[in-house]
Amino acid sequence: MKFSVMADQFDVVVIGGGPGGYNCAIRAGQLGLKAACIDQRSTFGGTCLNVGCIPSKTLLHASELYEDTKTKFPKMGIVTQGVAVDLAAMMAHKNKVVGELTKGVEFLFKKNKVEGIVGAATISAPGKVSVATKEGLRELSAKHIVIATGSDVAPLPGITIDEKTIVSSTGALALSEVPGRLLVVGAGVIGLEMGSVWRRLGSEVKVVEFLDRIVPGVDAEVAKHFQRLLERQGMSFTLSSKVVGVEKKGGELIVAIEPASGGKPQFVNADVMLVATGRRPYTDGLGLDQADVTRDKQGRIVTDGDFRTSVDTIWAIGDVREGAMLAHKAEDEAVAVAEIIAGRAGHVNYDAIASVIYTYPEVATVGKTEEEVKKAGIAYRVGKFPFAANARAKSNLTTEGFVKIIADAKTDRVLGVHMIGPDVGNMIGEASLALEFSAASEDIARTSHAHPTLAEAIRQAAMGVTGWTMQM
Ligand code: FAD
Ligand code: NAI
Repeated sequence: MKFSVMADQFDVVVIGGGPGGYNCAIRAGQLGLKAACIDQRSTFGGTCLNVGCIPSKTLLHASELYEDTKTKFPKMGIVTQGVAVDLAAMMAHKNKVVGELTKGVEFLFKKNKVEGIVGAATISAPGKVSVATKEGLRELSAKHIVIATGSDVAPLPGITIDEKTIVSSTGALALSEVPGRLLVVGAGVIGLEMGSVWRRLGSEVKVVEFLDRIVPGVDAEVAKHFQRLLERQGMSFTLSSKVVGVEKKGGELIVAIEPASGGKPQFVNADVMLVATGRRPYTDGLGLDQADVTRDKQGRIVTDGDFRTSVDTIWAIGDVREGAMLAHKAEDEAVAVAEIIAGRAGHVNYDAIASVIYTYPEVATVGKTEEEVKKAGIAYRVGKFPFAANARAKSNLTTEGFVKIIADAKTDRVLGVHMIGPDVGNMIGEASLALEFSAASEDIARTSHAHPTLAEAIRQAAMGVTGWTMQM
């Protein structure tokens, strides 16, 4: 890889080339700062582009189309004899998409005069970064250092991930065969997305979850409905349970599962086990102690509201600090910190950051859940609309799910939007915008929505907040 600008003195050195790091370096470059972005991976884009958002969404889309050929196509009069999966070709397609997008980051670096450096970075002192590159050690000096080193798989005590039969999300994105039986540990986002991919491709999928519900943090009514729909698709759930051990025997895994509160284990046989019990901040080898950068008990880098760490010229953004581990949260923080470093006002509105689970149906939420609003003692009203009553969903045979809007009973301000249904991930932007602009539910209800679109369900739900839903 060749970069045109070579220099050892920078205004900003960003460590980590994920959505936090690369966006920070690009925005810094746009603002006229001399920036470098370092990543130890040979391709930029971090977890998200290399082993996260992009490969998982590529496999989710491909496997959903395959499932549609069996479930929806025959009902639509499309004859699908002979449809089959060529897994190697599907993986090659995924790798091609990842390759093109990671190359795209290099292009954006060049365009914005950012120097991309491949190598492992260590902060030797405030203002000093050493990078172990293929060509040898390179010393950089920087007025500002931004740490964007992201996160890594949280280990499960007593379980060794080999990325072949006991896999993390990384292994689950690259299996060379469809496992007959897949046991997923953790009914969070990774477990349900990757579980969906392999179930659609032919695996029997069992999910073990520690809590008494799936997707903690998602509005409880939505989560309950979601579990029912996933069960109808063939996924099975063992809730309030934990995996306490696994043994490899005769080419299969024997997994010991105990009730969450302790007790006698039961044993389940599986071909592959996916560990998806969360991620932890990644700061290995960064030299934080020698640079005096403080971390909290969970290993996250502590920052103030402006993303400044315990050292004045060292900043941290993305998965490595507190908050949701989401690519677009890292991106928002990246823009804000670059603007603050450049002497502008940078700000992130965490209330408007949406969260999406890209299964079928999708789950997309932004703002407060009904449980949170209740707990805060806010008087509220709810408007709901099912996709079964939406014309476009009916024509597309995608009638599962609903839209739920929560608004303040006194002011009508929208507090939360929770959706489960077709393509709601692409529709949640409207709800984020409503929260960003402090919209009332009436603003959404009186905004024109093109017909026939799935988004009309949002308008009808908004009407429902004050009791005038028209199409149900
Ligand atoms: P990362 O993307 O983790 O990037 C950090 C980079 O820093 C890494 O490339 C690492 O190699 C590098 N690095 C670390 N230490 C050093 C060092 N000392 N020197 C040099 N380089 C270093 N989020 C979404 O919003 N939507 C999704 O659909 C989604 N899907 C996901 C699917 C999966 C399977 C996974 C695992 C995650 C997914 N996420 C998704 C989460 C998303 O990937 C992260 O929130 C996001 O990547 C965080 O960005 P980041 O820049 O903070 O860190
Ligand atoms: P998660 O936090 O979403 O879910 C982990 C689940 O595992 C929880 O339900 C938890 O209760 C359960 N659990 C924990 N320990 C357990 C145990 N011992 N036994 C059984 N269950 C246990 O974490 P996940 O799915 O690993 O994802 C990590 C992060 O990556 C998430 O924070 C998410 O934000 C991000 N991500 C985002 C995606 C998206 O935006 N679509 C997709 C994939 C990941």
